[in-house]
Amino acid sequence: MQRIVAPSMLSADFGHLERDTRMIDQSEAQWVHIDVMDGVFVPNISFGFPVMKPIRKATGKCLDVHLMIVDPERYVEQFVEAGADLVTFHYEATNDVKGCIDKIRRAGARVGISIKPATSVDVLKDILPMVDLVLVMSVEPGFGGQSFIRGSIDKIRELRSMANGYNPKLMIEVDGGISSRNAGEVYEAGADALVAGSAVFKAEDPAAEIIKILKA
Ligand code: DX5
Ligand code: ZN
Repeated sequence: MQRIVAPSMLSADFGHLERDTRMIDQSEAQWVHIDVMDGVFVPNISFGFPVMKPIRKATGKCLDVHLMIVDPERYVEQFVEAGADLVTFHYEATNDVKGCIDKIRRAGARVGISIKPATSVDVLKDILPMVDLVLVMSVEPGFGGQSFIRGSIDKIRELRSMANGYNPKLMIEVDGGISSRNAGEVYEAGADALVAGSAVFKAEDPAAEIIKILKA
């Protein structure tokens, strides 16, 4: 199984966004993770389309957009237009999961769905065949720099075995509190892609930390 790492630009230096994006572009990281927050779904506001622009310009890597916004179906097409290759929205944020999936697909991007720590993987059973990826939140969404919730490991294992029956090609991404210290066991539990914000951007050598995560 291929291991993917997706540094979260939420922890980048916004005064040097182009420089930080190029640094990720030249690293071993395969994806670039973009956290969009609306101050309603989560108690924090991050950034939107204008900030995605310089990021899109500075890298050809897969832009992995994580929407922490209510009623994501209103905006998903605009995120694809802004350069998203993969659009992930929250199960808890919409009354129209199926419609949202269709909109992202029709716009030409890969589709992900995310669940918060308190949401059981069981709610995803019927949805698994329709999506490319499930993003398991291993912290409460809203802020970087929190500690990994241990219970996430069992959740990833459970999801991986569920996916064997419902969508064997499903990718599992895990987001929150990841570093080279815990990356090994998270990959081993069944994750394909790991998001890392503070671990990468607060490291003395971010490119080396990315390699450590990949080889953990
Ligand atoms: C949290 C975001 C994460 C965050 C991860 O709501 O979805 O992507 O940036 O940050 P770290 O790796 O610092 O936990
Ligand atoms: Zn995220």
